[in-house]
Amino acid sequence: MLIAVAQAGFNRPFRIFLAACAVAVTPLPAPVFADSIQADLPPATVESTRGIVNDLMGQLGQKLKAAIVSDGPVAAVSVCKEAAPAIAKSLSVQHGAQVSRVGTRVRNPEMGAPNAWQKEALADFDSRLAKGEKATELEYWKVVNTDNGKQELRYAKAIVTQQLCVTCHGKAEDIPAPLMEKIRAEYPQDQATGYSVGQLRGAVVVTRALKPH
Ligand code: HEC
Repeated sequence: MLIAVAQAGFNRPFRIFLAACAVAVTPLPAPVFADSIQADLPPATVESTRGIVNDLMGQLGQKLKAAIVSDGPVAAVSVCKEAAPAIAKSLSVQHGAQVSRVGTRVRNPEMGAPNAWQKEALADFDSRLAKGEKATELEYWKVVNTDNGKQELRYAKAIVTQQLCVTCHGKAEDIPAPLMEKIRAEYPQDQATGYSVGQLRGAVVVTRALKPH
């Protein structure tokens, strides 16, 4: 299968390249060239995908803050457990897309573990961070020709650790004992501690079919 890849940061010109991936069993149609990929990804699609991400982060942030203020962080763990997948699911249905969050290290291995392309996105964020790009501006996308002859957009936006997040994702020894106990009880395989403010925590990931035109 031939995969065409386009990546962009908010403030940078497109970087576009093609990567060939030799997994096809049947002969391939003519390759898709980079400039046709840009045509295949109208600005409106990018904007609406960013909108889905902002919606998810906005709704989740609000729920999380409200729960911490009204009931404290221990109770907020349960809110997070219920609310995060519920919001992601409702946005997925609303937009006919698959929307979720993945982590560089993971608390919920069923919901939050990155798949192959999502790992690629996180690795790309890591290397761009090392080159001095701003964590809050990192985004990545890729258009893939699927086996049924359609095109799929795979989009990731970096999630950066903020002060609020360190409450539950900071160094384990800094997390108050009752909160740490609650996290360990709910997530025995938790890996998602040890983060500091400004660090890459993960990504919001969106997969959606591109309309043929
Ligand atoms: C009250 C504790 C708490 C706070 C505060 C918190 N989280 Fe989490 N976080 C959790 C829990 C619990 C999960 C697992 C949710 C689930 O079961 O899907 C989680 C999961 C995640 C995931 C999905 C990947 C994974 O590890 O499973 C990301 C990404 C994430 N949190 C980022 C953040 C960010 C960014 C902030 C700050 C804006 C934050 N969290 C604040 C408790 C918290």
